[in-house]
Amino acid sequence: MTSLYVVDTLAEGGQIGAEEIVEAAVRCQRVEGDFVLGVSTGSTPGSTWRALAGRLGESSVDTGRIQAFALDEYLDIEADHPESYRAVVRRQITLPLGLNPEKVRCPGDDGRDLQAPQRYEQAIRDAGGIDLQVLGIGRNGHIAFNEPGSSLASRCRVAALAEQTRQDNSRFFSSQEEVPRYCITQGIGTIMQARQLLLIAYGTAKAEALAAALEGPITAAVPASAIQLHPDVVVVADRSAASLLVHSANYSALRL
Ligand code: GLP
Repeated sequence: MTSLYVVDTLAEGGQIGAEEIVEAAVRCQRVEGDFVLGVSTGSTPGSTWRALAGRLGESSVDTGRIQAFALDEYLDIEADHPESYRAVVRRQITLPLGLNPEKVRCPGDDGRDLQAPQRYEQAIRDAGGIDLQVLGIGRNGHIAFNEPGSSLASRCRVAALAEQTRQDNSRFFSSQEEVPRYCITQGIGTIMQARQLLLIAYGTAKAEALAAALEGPITAAVPASAIQLHPDVVVVADRSAASLLVHSANYSALRL
């Protein structure tokens, strides 16, 4: 079941995303221990993290009772590299939101041996599963680093980045050569077990991928299309990213 918010600005999208996260956190903390938030990197969720930093302070959410799990991490990069996802998560999420760093995890942060993906999967299970997972989408339809062809049942694992993703992410590095080639990523099966998904997409470059994900066939060729089978998805898109959707009037909730 999908709810779609079509917004005019990234700031508006950020406010809506932040509100969804705060509502989920309040709901979870009322009945359970910690709220478990799946966090994503990339440019897209930036306005959501900024809005959330403001909203959390005004809410009843106890930031000490938030656990966070990143979606993915480059493998062939040093932990202290400013573009390692550990560094990005610390800079954009842990510090501004005032989260306890010991409760924020990234794949491979406890060692990069062969068992690291399984340990990460287990850590998510031990936390009680992810309550709300924030997702961006790649131009090729990837979610996390599940590139086209990834099994829709895949779990945390080491994977290779698609060439297009390496090109898209080269803007964060000083040269194309420097862009990592491998990653540890949550699998599509892992992501699908989160209780709620918040997918954010902005800009014309994401329009085809978003339409394929929400309205095309469910196929490993478009990894994000798996979310059509998820019971609770909130999509926040700007008008450009939503421009190729043709069935959105029939979604469970459409807010303009
Ligand atoms: C990256 C990340 C994804 C992210 C996507 C889109 O490579 N692994 O988690 O959602 O690609 O990134 P952006 O938001 O910068 O367009």
